[in-house]
Amino acid sequence: MNKKSVRDVDLKGKRVLMRVDFNVPMQDGVVTDDTRIRAAAPTIKYVLEQKPRYVALMSHFGRPKEGPEPKYSLQQIAPAVSEALGVPVAFAADCIGPVAADAAAALPEGGVLLLENTRFHKGETKNDPEIAAQMAALGDVYVNDAFGSAHRAHASTEGVAHHLPAVAGFLMEKELDYLVNALEDPKRPFVAILGGAKVSDKIGVIDSLLGKCDRLLIGGGMANTFFKAQGVEMADSLVEDDALDTAKDILKKAGDKLVLPIDVVIADAFDAGANTQVCDAGADVPAGWRILDIGPDTVDFFTTHLVSAKTVVWNGPMGVFEMAPFAKGTIAIARVLAELDATTIIGGGDSAAAVEQAGLADEMTHISTGGGASLELLEGKALPGVVALQDK
Ligand code: 3PG
Repeated sequence: MNKKSVRDVDLKGKRVLMRVDFNVPMQDGVVTDDTRIRAAAPTIKYVLEQKPRYVALMSHFGRPKEGPEPKYSLQQIAPAVSEALGVPVAFAADCIGPVAADAAAALPEGGVLLLENTRFHKGETKNDPEIAAQMAALGDVYVNDAFGSAHRAHASTEGVAHHLPAVAGFLMEKELDYLVNALEDPKRPFVAILGGAKVSDKIGVIDSLLGKCDRLLIGGGMANTFFKAQGVEMADSLVEDDALDTAKDILKKAGDKLVLPIDVVIADAFDAGANTQVCDAGADVPAGWRILDIGPDTVDFFTTHLVSAKTVVWNGPMGVFEMAPFAKGTIAIARVLAELDATTIIGGGDSAAAVEQAGLADEMTHISTGGGASLELLEGKALPGVVALQDK
């Protein structure tokens, strides 16, 4: 990484303002998956070891539109942060202004403060320079460890970096090392696997990956649009009709680099209790039925492309993995990856959740904490939150 990291700055006695991504899943006020909090902990602990004046953590949480809303308060997350760090964590009911400044000033030497949701200020997502300056007033150094938000040019991820010495945290560094290296200098064969519902969300990624990988395996709902583009009747399957021309172009351009499923699981309802059948991917889907997963022959077929791979990047599930009968394809692919003698990189979001669900997280080389951010990197885009950091 050509950006300065937290190791490159003197933090002793400094007020450290750190952007983290604590946008975590929560139910009834309890964090249901603390992966992102645990992932930021090594950087926070390292900073604390350098004897700073304090560490103030800022993050967004959810997508509040109209200012402060209790259900989006980061106060709910403070216990989980304290548990992950093993130290007390104070909370400030605002991320800027006198409330934040007073809470920071009241911290003991080397204390940790969690600031309220940055998105309670509308200027955050507009990258308002005034908000960014007010955030910067809380620190002497800015550390960005929020890889999951690095694709957002917001005040807390981009604007603030122009006011302070701005460096990357360890999580940011690790994510970039894996994802950027995989694209720039992959060990070959390099096989990419894409899934998820929509081709239209991933056109840029497909384009970019086709230029870099040796094989691109496509599953999930997005494969349906390719099947329809090949003239197959899709009945009730999810298809993006306005992406059919794009799908045709991609098929023409990709040639045999792009690999589609050869069999699929179809169901007579979008329901875990639906009747199911495995059928040939080239066959018309009967009226009233829909494709909800890849079939067993596809798992074997994809495996033949994966066994010799030295680098694998996977983004997007192979089927509707939230419903057990249609999770088999996704879980099977996760199992194949777990056995490979290759660098296996899992994009954030659904594929990361699927690997966790399969109990195989420890078997992968890297699981990204950023769904949108990892997709934008795979698309070859620069991430504003990274660009704004100081060069080495
Ligand atoms: C995420 O969960 O992908 C990040 O935290 C970014 O959230 P956002 O899509 O609401 O900006």
